Amino acid sequence: MDSLVIEGGARLRGTIHVNGSKNAALPIMAGALLASGPTYLREVPNLSDINHQVNLLRELGCVVERQADGQMKIEVTDEKNSHARYDLVRKMRASICVLGPLLAKRKFARVSMPGGCAIGDRPVDIHLRGLEALGAVIDLDGGDIICRADKLTGAEIFLGGNFGSTVLGTANVMSAATLAKGTTVIESAACEPEVVDLANYLNAMGAKITGAGTPRITIEGVAELTGTSHTVIPDRIEAGTFMVAAAITNGEIHLDNCRLGDLLAVVDKLRSIGVIVEKNNGGATISSVRRLEASNITTQPHPGFPTDLQAQFMALLAIADGNSVITEKIFPDRFLHVAELARLGARLHKEGSTVVIQGQKKLVGAPVMASDLRASAALVLAGLCAKGTTTVMRVYHIDRGYEKIEQRLNAVGANIKRVNQEELEL
Ligand code: EPZ
Repeated sequence: MDSLVIEGGARLRGTIHVNGSKNAALPIMAGALLASGPTYLREVPNLSDINHQVNLLRELGCVVERQADGQMKIEVTDEKNSHARYDLVRKMRASICVLGPLLAKRKFARVSMPGGCAIGDRPVDIHLRGLEALGAVIDLDGGDIICRADKLTGAEIFLGGNFGSTVLGTANVMSAATLAKGTTVIESAACEPEVVDLANYLNAMGAKITGAGTPRITIEGVAELTGTSHTVIPDRIEAGTFMVAAAITNGEIHLDNCRLGDLLAVVDKLRSIGVIVEKNNGGATISSVRRLEASNITTQPHPGFPTDLQAQFMALLAIADGNSVITEKIFPDRFLHVAELARLGARLHKEGSTVVIQGQKKLVGAPVMASDLRASAALVLAGLCAKGTTTVMRVYHIDRGYEKIEQRLNAVGANIKRVNQEELEL
């Protein structure tokens, strides 16, 4: 198992290219199950979560290959197996996004029910409610969700829940509705840019979707979807993480392939705490020249502040001047990084889904344990500014969502070494 050993204190300076979005690519890859003919995807990042999705699609009868130019080609060659096994789903709960496409195209799907994960309970009841409204009959057997529908029929569907809408639930229902008979209207749809990217891709395949990016999405069902080419949008969470890397080291990073429009709440927060964010040719430059100010953050569905950047901003506010409050409104238990950041000297007080952060002048390096993807990113960021050495263990979590993070940060001046556990113990 690899660890990252970080010598803190370097000011980062230079350019980083933001990769294609993992969370846009996963449902888009699943959407290829709907197509007759090959699908070509550009800017699919090279990540372990993407590899899990490739393995799943192969089991479901697709030929998937990376071409010499980096494009991913997906083609369905056999529709016999519609079973997403527990073995694959437990490695990546986003596998649930094959449910809608399989049901719509093959009239049957058996998908293992994803369990909880390090960021808390992750129910899929709203996905299932939405598919039932389209006419699916749903049973549970041996931990698998079994979905059947001889035909899907357009319907008016409300997808809101106690914590807002659901991103992958919207993806599932929207994908399934593309082949339903008649018109589907999704109310309280997720507005995340990844949903818009999926809708653009499905429309390029021949779907008729309007309103993606707003809480009301309308889908006119069509008889068939064909393969297409699509470029996945830049990863806004990766961009936001590198923005914090610039800010936390008082550095200056130019981000290529960064859409600031997808990050308005994040940019607004950065500016309010004293970080300079400038938009320039296809990207943005983020710099910081002084001690940052404290601030309060509440995570919300898009276009609010994203839960996927909550941990990284906690690391940043840990060295700001004054007290900050972070409230998590999407995944109220997403706080495994709190105890680890405290090991680096962050002063944090957690009460329910709120954390009060008493800003310190500095953090001090220590061994810490990564628990999930974004928590790991937060620990790396904290390590970049901590005095001395920080060792982030179990970094396979970070490889799920950030491609070669240490190489890309080292290219702008960081000092991070990847070592395996045995090397550490020698
Ligand atoms: C997506 O997960 C992302 N994953 C998550 O990114 C992200 O944190 C999350 O959206 C919120 O933005 C992918 O896109 C692959 P939700 P998703 O359904 O769709 C509740 C990362 O680090 N809910 O929008 O699974 C749920 O418990 C990851 O890259 C129900 O109650 O999240 C949560 O409180 C982690 N019932 C809220 O809704 C349901 O049926 C939002 O979850 C579904 C969700």
